[in-house]
Amino acid sequence: MLIDRYARRFTYLRLSLTEFCNFRCTYCLPDGNDCDSRAGELTLPEIRRLALAFARLGTRKIRLTGGEPSIRRDLTDVIALCKSTLGIDKVALTTNGYQLQRRVREWQQAGLDALNVSVDSLDPHVFSRITGVDRLHAILQGIDHALALGIPQVKLNTVLLRQHNADELPAFLRYVKDKPVALRFIELMRTGDNVDYYQQQHLSGDVIRQQLLADGWQLQLKGQTDGPALEYAHPDYQGRVGLIMPYSNDFCSDCNRLRVSSQAQLFLCLFTEQHQSLRHLLQDDNPEPLMAFLQQAVLGKLASHDLHEQRSGQTRHLAMIGG
Ligand code: 5AD
Ligand code: SF4
Repeated sequence: MLIDRYARRFTYLRLSLTEFCNFRCTYCLPDGNDCDSRAGELTLPEIRRLALAFARLGTRKIRLTGGEPSIRRDLTDVIALCKSTLGIDKVALTTNGYQLQRRVREWQQAGLDALNVSVDSLDPHVFSRITGVDRLHAILQGIDHALALGIPQVKLNTVLLRQHNADELPAFLRYVKDKPVALRFIELMRTGDNVDYYQQQHLSGDVIRQQLLADGWQLQLKGQTDGPALEYAHPDYQGRVGLIMPYSNDFCSDCNRLRVSSQAQLFLCLFTEQHQSLRHLLQDDNPEPLMAFLQQAVLGKLASHDLHEQRSGQTRHLAMIGG
């Protein structure tokens, strides 16, 4: 088992497959990628060994993230490999959706259980202003395709931005009225690169929460490998609406996740100076040394991130570690 000094159990691994992304979200990579090499990304055998060691230590869910994970040509193989790892019940993918229409069927056939797609606006103009890409329509069609294929869990991620989408709640609610999706508003997080943007655009999720409660939405209970979202349901709506509020008190108290970057670094938290390379432990098939290393490493996990103190560690943008 992976348990830390605060008795938190880690059953959920977020695995980044690449730092690269083909979008330029204003809060993340406004100028696009700033490095031009994809050298050193985890290989399939390294991912297989990593998944096995984590699974042997109680990990039940792996989420593949990036950058944009679908930039990897072997993404489908990675999904299949994680899914076939004994102990892994759930393989999830977070994507910007640009390959969704074309590839979601092969991902599903490889065993994908859950899909998160970033959709920061339902207005095509606002969407392209935020992401740098004029593709909202195709992405929404991709989401419909995923639903039609019967992917068990489909979620939309919307970063809450004061001047761009804070007034879109009614449109998002219309969207979830007849669709079995969970939409989650994520409070904008401050990173090394977005300090000014954060000042301008950060908005507390409480604004949305108050509106939901006033409209009769009700807070739902969480499952063990669920993320930190507070999720609300309403009898008149098929979909759900959630809030991810990393600035709220207690956000870290039930943390259940660890992160591994595409460069094989273990991150104990999204916002931390603490990271350790696992590369040397991924070079042969014996999982024991890696398992021992991980059990020791989690003891160093801190109680909470320092975002409240305006400290975001060395995290320049979330494409580095996959959000
Ligand atoms: N604050 C909040 N969410 C962010 N994401 C990327 N950068 C930030 C940030 N600074 C979101 C993306 C995606 C998810 C992986 O993280 O929009 O939905
Ligand atoms: Fe790419 Fe995601 Fe960052 Fe947008 S938020 S630039 S889609 S990694």
